[in-house]
Amino acid sequence: MDKMAVIGAGQMGAGIAQVSAQAGYHVFLSDVSVELAQKGKAGIAKQLARAVEKGKMDAADADAALARIEPVGDYAKMAEAGLIIEAATEREDIKRTIFENVGKVLAADAILASNTSSIPITRMAAATTDASRFVGVHFFNPVPVMGLIELIRGLATSDATVDFVRGYAERIGKRVVQANDAPGFIVNRILLPMLNEACFALGEGVATIEDIDAAVQLGLNHPMGPLTLADFIGLDTCLSITQVLHSSTGDPKFRPAPLLVKYVEAGWLGRKTKRGFYDYSGETPVPTR
Ligand code: CAA
Repeated sequence: MDKMAVIGAGQMGAGIAQVSAQAGYHVFLSDVSVELAQKGKAGIAKQLARAVEKGKMDAADADAALARIEPVGDYAKMAEAGLIIEAATEREDIKRTIFENVGKVLAADAILASNTSSIPITRMAAATTDASRFVGVHFFNPVPVMGLIELIRGLATSDATVDFVRGYAERIGKRVVQANDAPGFIVNRILLPMLNEACFALGEGVATIEDIDAAVQLGLNHPMGPLTLADFIGLDTCLSITQVLHSSTGDPKFRPAPLLVKYVEAGWLGRKTKRGFYDYSGETPVPTR
């Protein structure tokens, strides 16, 4: 399989397209319009140029990888793809519509995968043409840096599909962990309660934003403190995964922190809105409380 497709050219989709093209795949990259797919490709060009500047990559390799990414305005070309990874907005209705439309062109032996961080794979498989060829492949942000893929097997996912995705992950240099189709899979099941707890601690006045982050970053040797990481992921995303954990298990230990809810209601969603627990409008982030 040398041709694949990525649906969704945002941060995650562009990252997946980049690492796949670097590994030698020809990637059809789509979004709601060809212009957005082209914008995603332009962002990848910047990332590759930075890697060349730093001496991490040959200019010729970067050019070759970029040339392997083909922005497309519809799904027609995806009939040639052996693997299609959906990395669209984390909304089930949007993903289901994509699966129905992709199903019309999906090759008879092609694999369809979703980069969902929290929607059940077995439930979404019902919207695909063949549940045995549907699987979850959960990447982490920033995709070029993070070494992991969570592989989530739905009830009907076949062994052949799992083996195929393992082969793909090996080729792009990512370690695979296999998770059952349980809420939050592995990483978010463990991460989100930590981020949510940091929001409780802040809301209850345990410590300042800076000290909560410094405590975890230096005391536990994490690359970022939890409030910085929550801003990086997006507070709306953190809240929605926490809500999925809470509603699908019914376990009160996952209830969202009131402060996290308030920030999302205020539209303070983290880096992407330039304000979350930190203010990102200047050169260095400044704590907001
Ligand atoms: N894209 C590509 N490369 C990037 C990047 C990006 N967006 N951001 C940073 N990098 C690269 C840098 O180029 C640099 O590469 P070199 O070492 O080759 O020069 C390297 O990463 C380190 O970057 P910096 O020196 O700028 O900064 P840093 O040391 O603070 O690292 C970080 C930045 C990699 C983001 C690090 O802070 C980190 O690992 N943070 C935790 C990230 C994390 O936990 N991600 C998972 C979130 S959860 C998720 O994604 C799943 C979900 O469903 C919510």
